[in-house]
Amino acid sequence: MSDSTLHTMGQQFGRRSWAEPWKIKMVEPLQMISEEDRSRAIEVAGHNTFLLRSEDVYIDLLTDSGTSAMSDRQWAGIMLGDEAYAGSRNFYNLEDAVRDYYGYKHVVPTHQGRGAEHLISQTVIKPGQFVPGNMYFTTTRLHQELAGGIFVDVIIDEAHDPNDEHPFKGDVNLEKLESLILEKGVENIAYMSLAGTVNMAGGQPVSMANVKALRALCDRYGIPIYLDATRMFENAYFIQQREEDYRQKSVAEILKEFCQYTDGAWMSSKKDHLVNIGGWLAVNDPDLFDQLRNRVVIYEGLHTYGGMAGRDMEALAVGIAEGVQDDQVRARVGQVEYLGTLLLNWDIPIVKPVGGHAIFLDAKSFYPHIAQDQFPAQTLASQLYVDSGVRGMERGIVSAGRDPETGDHRYPALELMRLAVPRRVYTQAHIDVVAEGVKTVFDSREDTVGLKMVYEPEYLRFFQARFESVG
Ligand SMILES: Cc1ncc(COP(=O)(O)O)c(C=O)c1O
Repeated sequence: MSDSTLHTMGQQFGRRSWAEPWKIKMVEPLQMISEEDRSRAIEVAGHNTFLLRSEDVYIDLLTDSGTSAMSDRQWAGIMLGDEAYAGSRNFYNLEDAVRDYYGYKHVVPTHQGRGAEHLISQTVIKPGQFVPGNMYFTTTRLHQELAGGIFVDVIIDEAHDPNDEHPFKGDVNLEKLESLILEKGVENIAYMSLAGTVNMAGGQPVSMANVKALRALCDRYGIPIYLDATRMFENAYFIQQREEDYRQKSVAEILKEFCQYTDGAWMSSKKDHLVNIGGWLAVNDPDLFDQLRNRVVIYEGLHTYGGMAGRDMEALAVGIAEGVQDDQVRARVGQVEYLGTLLLNWDIPIVKPVGGHAIFLDAKSFYPHIAQDQFPAQTLASQLYVDSGVRGMERGIVSAGRDPETGDHRYPALELMRLAVPRRVYTQAHIDVVAEGVKTVFDSREDTVGLKMVYEPEYLRFFQARFESVG
């Protein structure tokens, strides 16, 4: 029996197949509860996927943060934890790894990314200063605002259009940035907040050409650039794939060059570094480092552990060296691309081009009959969970929160539902199940009604808000 219409994954992409650079040594059983139980669970959770119990979830694409599978070498590192309060050897291994791969001189460990965001924001921003950035990220902007800063989006316009296929939708619009500097005065700009890749735009990269030009512009005005390096391995991979001069360079080489154009970075190691917890802040300026190292002891812990156990720092140091390998990043981004290609092939609206860590379903196109203040992306996350036990997350009006000045909802151009793929966790078969679940929900989209918000917490409301169906 032969069927020439069946294709392997490689054939679908017009190349020889390649596979992940690892094999599975330990597994965790999964169960799928009944549809009736899933309907009950999402009601109890107030239609917020953050409030579901994970044992009620079949395939968990809520986030790629802290959900990676660690390698045998990382687990071996856990056994080498030096749990001294001060001067743990694991900290020095972490410091060496950050210096070697990112090139920054001084490293402050933190419990996760937002610990580092808190430190940099409180230390560098003077109340009333503006913080330009290539699209907001929820925790990043909140820490900037809590320090008295005013975030201003200076990303290129293409980033706000889910259908625009610009290869570097994370790029900064240098004219927007310069106008802001001239309008507000250079003394009123705290720093340039640059993220690679840009989560809220759909995991979209920043080009090397753009960061070089950004450096030149910021140098002209004496403005520092601090990088959210959370998914920079994936950003570097996209540069390798899409920028002519970088085809022959490794992800590690590209990463180091990119970081050279910045003055420091904060990191949520729960992503690229393949660990379940951890983060850091790294800078080149010794005086700034001094202030950060002093402040970290108030909020995180001593400057040689910053809220992490010694064993966590060891797994993190190993994870940096593993995560940056070309074959690792290729397999990781390739799995996301596989899911995106299936959905695009079925004309399901997603952000294009497919980003590094997740597929972002365009909920406005999915549910054109649901007004944005009836939460189309939140609705979509709830519907997908009930259909197939797949958990995603809202990245639209709920995540955008309220304008601190007016108190109104912010209405972002992008109303997205994110399916984030954990690293080294799910197989191609899981991804096929997800794709079929999305298709089923898409095929019944016309009957779906929106939600109303019935509970709203003050900060980062998307984590804990509750909703009821308007139907
Ligand atoms: C782009 C980006 N920056 C910062 C953070 C914050 O990191 P953490 O969750 O480790 O506090 C995240 C986490 O989701 C992120 O995606």
